[in-house]
Amino acid sequence: MCGIVAYVGPKDAAPILLEGLQRLEYRGYDSAGVVVSSKGLKVRKVKGRVADLAKAVPARFKGTLGIGHTRWATHGVPSDENAHPHLSADERIAVVHNGIIENATELRAKLEADGVVFKSETDTETLAHMIARTVEETSSLEEAVRKALKSVVGTYGIAVIDAERPGEVVVARNGSPIVLGIGEKEMFAASDVAALVRYTRQVVHLEDGELAVLKADGFHTFASGGLETAKEPLTVDVEAGHYDTGGYEHYLLKEISEQPETVARTLRGRLDDRFHIAHLGGLNMDARATRSFRRVKIIGCGSAYYSGQIGAQLIEELARIPADAEPASEFRYRNPVVDPDTLYVAISQSGETYDTLAAVQELKRKGGRVIGIVNAVGSAIAREVDGGIYLHAGPEVSVASTKAFTSTAVAFALLALHFGRVHDLSPADGRRIVDGLAKLPDQIEEILKQGDRIRELARKYATHPSLMFVGRVRGYPVAREGAQKLKEISYIHAEAYPASELKHGPLALIGPEMPTVAVVPDDELLDKNLTTLGEIRTRGGNVLMIGHREPEAKLADDVIVVPKNEIELDPILLTIPLQLLAYHAAVALERDVDKPRNLAKSVTVE
Ligand code: AGP
Repeated sequence: MCGIVAYVGPKDAAPILLEGLQRLEYRGYDSAGVVVSSKGLKVRKVKGRVADLAKAVPARFKGTLGIGHTRWATHGVPSDENAHPHLSADERIAVVHNGIIENATELRAKLEADGVVFKSETDTETLAHMIARTVEETSSLEEAVRKALKSVVGTYGIAVIDAERPGEVVVARNGSPIVLGIGEKEMFAASDVAALVRYTRQVVHLEDGELAVLKADGFHTFASGGLETAKEPLTVDVEAGHYDTGGYEHYLLKEISEQPETVARTLRGRLDDRFHIAHLGGLNMDARATRSFRRVKIIGCGSAYYSGQIGAQLIEELARIPADAEPASEFRYRNPVVDPDTLYVAISQSGETYDTLAAVQELKRKGGRVIGIVNAVGSAIAREVDGGIYLHAGPEVSVASTKAFTSTAVAFALLALHFGRVHDLSPADGRRIVDGLAKLPDQIEEILKQGDRIRELARKYATHPSLMFVGRVRGYPVAREGAQKLKEISYIHAEAYPASELKHGPLALIGPEMPTVAVVPDDELLDKNLTTLGEIRTRGGNVLMIGHREPEAKLADDVIVVPKNEIELDPILLTIPLQLLAYHAAVALERDVDKPRNLAKSVTVE
């Protein structure tokens, strides 16, 4: 939610800031702005995309220090006025902010009572005024920022500049990420390494409560109390090219198409053919500890939660340990009972989803043991957990998650195999799963070859305003994820139901105007699922079936056949056609596929 970028060095700041903002646009894209410092502050901000901002920045927008922002609105509608940066009344201080100041109304009222006139409806503007009020009384911008932040309740990643100190940027973090980038006689900061890797691979992640002062020749970091902290730079293993579309029309299609390779990367070095086990060293758990817990509780948000539902079923089936998944956003608010015999698993592609992070922090505060399944290396959740599994799926840029979803399900299969083989899963069943996992990349490749046909089906089904998705047991999380993908990027209404529940209510919706996408694996529930298809067709409903073979009777109008794997692993493959269906439906409806309306990639607010 919102992207921040900052630069100080010998070069012209504006092109660097604009390029960085483009890389961060997935975080929010309703308005954007930049400010550079050169004998006073020069500001441009617009409602719209970074490309609109770039057009609004004149050629003579010079300055070797600056900050920029791309916004996902929370306080105040998307508009030029509400776009960041926000300036103090005397135009001395400029601030960009990611997060939410919860006591903004109270702070604003105090400032207004003192005669401050606000130009925007945002919570962020309060910060600019508060810093401006203290900067004259304090010896440094850093101190003024720290003083202002003491009054703030909420989350922030901020970057601040002062027209009177044109050689430094102050950044601070509490709940919203800030990464410093170390260059040759130049320094950068951003919400994500995506904005930095074109310039440097040497980065430093700020911790919550930390503040940093950046100058062209280096940086200093400080804990909230003001004591200097020692930070070791890390070298990030990502190249700028990983953030390009690689010749595809959209990031989403690129990321769907990458899945044979990304699944192979999640598996690499982790399958053991000798003992038919999974090597998961990052869990930091020996066999005794692995045997010691009695339940598994999985938490994540959105698609991460749905992949967690697949994970819970895998763990129950392969390890016979009771497991369930719950949205982290619900879990954290219901004062959960934290059980010492339960292993908690937090899932997040970005590693910075605020609800998931807050749930992890609550669990740890109560003494829970938490592991993570995370894609973004070094992210907040990855650093908070006791151990875990990295997906190694590479950067996921499109707002809709695809390759991270499949890699998470694969990581759960590895985890379930690991737990199972420590418990009662036989070597023969272990081998069956190891062999099944190894087959996945080629089978995904096979499904991707059906892209043209799925595009035709998407065009046909995208003419309907609403679609029902159904699945039973293993197929149900797949149906939920399919419905989520479709609504998220095509804006077609889609509802996912357990196939078994259809006749308890939603069957009333079925008719010629509402088709059903049915996930029908060839498992022990096949007959039950085919009965459901019959019930739908009897009510005049059209059916698009995703399964392993054409049904003998004419129970579906269209069928997408996917290769068969082991029944426990089939949900991973059944997901792929639904991703393509949503993608092609969104393209047919001319949607902004990679940046759907109202959404952002990393949800770093509550
Ligand atoms: C997926 O398509 C969505 N954009 C969304 O549900 C996402 O999965 C969710 O916000 C969780 O994100 P995370 O994996 O980065 O924590």
